[in-house]
Amino acid sequence: MSQNIHDHKILILDFGSQYTQLIARRVREAGVYCEIHHYDFPESAFQEFQPRGVILSGSPESAHLEDSPRVPDYILSADLPVLGICYGMQTIAEQLGGKVEGSNKSEFGYASIAIPTGSPLLSDLEDSVQEGNIFNHDVWMSHGDKVTAVPGGFDVIASSDSAPIAAMACEEKKIYGLQFHPEVTHTKSGQQILNRFVHELCGCGRLWTPANIIDNAISTIQEKVGSDQVLLGLSGGVDSSVVAALLHRAIGDQLTCVFVDNGLLRLHEGDQVMETFSRNMGVRVIRVDAEDVFLGKLAGVEDPESKRKIIGNTFIEVFDEEATKLGDVKWLAQGTIYPDVIESAGSKHGTAHVIKSHHNVGGLPEDMNMGLVEPLRELFKDEVRNIGIELGLPHEMIYRHPFPGPGLGVRVLGEVKKEYCDILRQADAIFIDELHNADWYQKVSQAFVVFLPVKSVGVVGDARRYSYVLAVRAVETIDFMTARWAHLPYELLEVISNRIINEIRDVSRVTYDISSKPPATIEWE
Ligand code: XMP
Repeated sequence: MSQNIHDHKILILDFGSQYTQLIARRVREAGVYCEIHHYDFPESAFQEFQPRGVILSGSPESAHLEDSPRVPDYILSADLPVLGICYGMQTIAEQLGGKVEGSNKSEFGYASIAIPTGSPLLSDLEDSVQEGNIFNHDVWMSHGDKVTAVPGGFDVIASSDSAPIAAMACEEKKIYGLQFHPEVTHTKSGQQILNRFVHELCGCGRLWTPANIIDNAISTIQEKVGSDQVLLGLSGGVDSSVVAALLHRAIGDQLTCVFVDNGLLRLHEGDQVMETFSRNMGVRVIRVDAEDVFLGKLAGVEDPESKRKIIGNTFIEVFDEEATKLGDVKWLAQGTIYPDVIESAGSKHGTAHVIKSHHNVGGLPEDMNMGLVEPLRELFKDEVRNIGIELGLPHEMIYRHPFPGPGLGVRVLGEVKKEYCDILRQADAIFIDELHNADWYQKVSQAFVVFLPVKSVGVVGDARRYSYVLAVRAVETIDFMTARWAHLPYELLEVISNRIINEIRDVSRVTYDISSKPPATIEWE
């Protein structure tokens, strides 16, 4: 069998479900390449894409209404396996002559479905309980409408108390519908169901593996850039680090990375990046010490948006200067990942979710006139991490919490001064260290300290201390759009607070931020 990772692929048509990206991630976990496209995917693009099967997502729409979004007819007659999930199933039913009814009673949460023996998609799943000719299985439901009559040629292949048609199939045409969500982990054998669909029913092999993805990326990069020079702005974050490692493997010395130390990094961060890339991996990294430039421009500026703009623009100036010094560089490498691509495509169709517009330090200067190399464009974050590990990057770097582009610039409230950054760096290092010690680092999604430019009175020994206040923040989140403050144990908070106040003379008080997002944001500025 050929090892081209794109030989076997699945097309996912998006009807606007919050779970669409999750479906894609599960298909990728099954070792199969897939792409998400708007439900109105043109036939010519479909012919070119050549999927081995199609999955239809859920939707907030109602399939029984006349002007609801529909699966293009050519898909349902394409002689390819099709799997409709939730709304995807309902629109198949409507379009092929069945019936869907609205209901003012929604069903959210676990349901037990009964599956007759013999269904190639659903019977004999792990975690099923068999009673005679029926398998009982726990699944996750999230729907209001439901199918009340299957189209001709379809059989009911699962039923639950509240959804008597919980799944349907036309085995002859290999068209399937599931009312429940196999892509969420609450459906116990959801991954197994999707595996069966992509492997057994669509005939896809497990070609999409980290090793194959790396081989493919390397040959694609080599073909694209030939013997040209490539430039990468290395931030030390996961995406740019993986791009650096991948490009280094592909083109060695033709890659030059520019790492801008803007004075807004965490303790020893610059040295760690240089250690990992330059000294251990032999990547050519130019470290630009630009602390004075950044802090100079930030002097006297208190407004958060102005600070963000200054930091973003200064980064571009510094980066641009270095690129000009290097001269003959034809390509600029970027760590764009698949969710960025989906979101910008989504906005073209007007179906995009609300996305925060962050300045990403490392963003490209628009007038640089270079071609783009974006080797992570097809990958989800978890795939980028797996590749990073496979390429030999340190685990701590790959599984680090995210760090905002403007760095400590938005964690020192108000005017940014070196003295404040130094205090913050020390406190942040203590906090992170104690989270690791207590095994809490990986249990929270992001954790950091914020510097408040106010002083409070304390007493140390017999002496009065009048010094700064810090806030400690830790949150749990899946997508960083909403977040809950982490319920760290009091004992741990006590250790953290004691260490910070005892070890840093300029701090008199530590507070813990108990605001969730919304209404607060994760960062304070
Ligand atoms: P907020 O504060 O908006 O943060 O709730 C959500 C996530 O985004 C990160 N963040 C940024 N990342 N450039 C970035 O690259 C930025 O300007 C920026 N601002 C916030 C923040 O750390 C959190 O993970």
